[in-house]
Amino acid sequence: MSRMPTADAGDPPFLRACRGQPCDRVPVWFMRQAGRSLPEYRARRGSGSILDAIACPELAAELTLQPVHRYGVDAAILFSDIVVPLAAIGFGVEVVPGRGPVVAEPFRRPEDLERLRPLEPDLDVAYVAETVRLVAAETNVPVIGFAGAPFTLASYLVEGGPSRDHVRTKSLMRTDPVTWMALLDALADLSVASLRAQVAAGASAVQLFDSWVGTLSPDDYRQLVLPASRRIFTELGDLGVPRLHFGVGTGELLSLMAGAGAEVVGVDWRVPLDAARHRVGPGHAVQGNLDPVTCLAPWKVVAAETRRVLAQAGGRPGHVFNLGHGVLPQTDPDTLARVVDLVHEEGTAK
Ligand code: CP3
Repeated sequence: MSRMPTADAGDPPFLRACRGQPCDRVPVWFMRQAGRSLPEYRARRGSGSILDAIACPELAAELTLQPVHRYGVDAAILFSDIVVPLAAIGFGVEVVPGRGPVVAEPFRRPEDLERLRPLEPDLDVAYVAETVRLVAAETNVPVIGFAGAPFTLASYLVEGGPSRDHVRTKSLMRTDPVTWMALLDALADLSVASLRAQVAAGASAVQLFDSWVGTLSPDDYRQLVLPASRRIFTELGDLGVPRLHFGVGTGELLSLMAGAGAEVVGVDWRVPLDAARHRVGPGHAVQGNLDPVTCLAPWKVVAAETRRVLAQAGGRPGHVFNLGHGVLPQTDPDTLARVVDLVHEEGTAK
């Protein structure tokens, strides 16, 4: 039996928009919609490691659904993290509150490739598939599965933690491109295995987060990163689910990213959506791009900026409304609820 979904008019707006089809309303969801901005998240999450919370399917499913219920967003993004597959194969990654992923023994030399064994989703991350199944059974909105893109994962492994300038990462790239490409290939394999398992469990779209790739020049991106990201999208092609590709500070990379093969290209707040559409070309939908910091302003300002994003999307099909990056923890949830209502009331995609 083919599991290729057919794109019919009854499909949810999020999936239709990803495919560039007209829909009754502009769909909206928020990157990092589950998280510390929600009082119900803070109440349920407790103080343990986020990786432990992710490994508990009932809790992870509940945290995934909290923003769906509160905001009425058009998609649920799985409550998980980009470093989950790396932690699951034993690379030694922790997620430190207020800081992000930290690696006790960073990737520094070719021998470190041996520490990257393949992911066996049924054995290593069975809890992720179980969470997807629980969420899909509980909601009508599409579930978005996700993974980290090779560059962004490599940056954590090589730097040992979050980094501003990515000095060690870029140095490895330039001084030992053979090891670099092998590292990216191993990371691409992890993400493919993880994403295929999420789709098999019921995710109806996948997003690849290349959050920090905007630190690269177009030439470096084209030669040293794009091939690995492109292979991920190619190896997911048979699944028939929309593929989304996002990074921050990617203004000069958008047309190259569009060539990696995703249907939807995520755009941060720096590039107006009309310019972004031009850069990604007619075959692609765009996602974005309200500045998350705008959501801290008085409602009048937020409403005006939300309308500006809608206007720049041009009222045409192929726009998924989102922020330009993740929800900031200090955001008032009521503001996001009002953004959803405004996008649903005023957005057009005919
Ligand atoms: O609602 C959602 O978007 C789903 C959950 C989600 C998390 N991480 C949960 C999380 C998603 C999609 C991610 C992806 C992720 N993780 C990315 C790509 C997206 C982006 O923001 O660019 C990156 C770079 C990471 C790595 C990571 N994990 C960072 C930088 C942090 C923040 C550290 C901090 O405390 O400020 C984390 C931790 C994390 N992942 C939190 C959440 C809700 C916050 C901490 C917590 O609740 O313990």
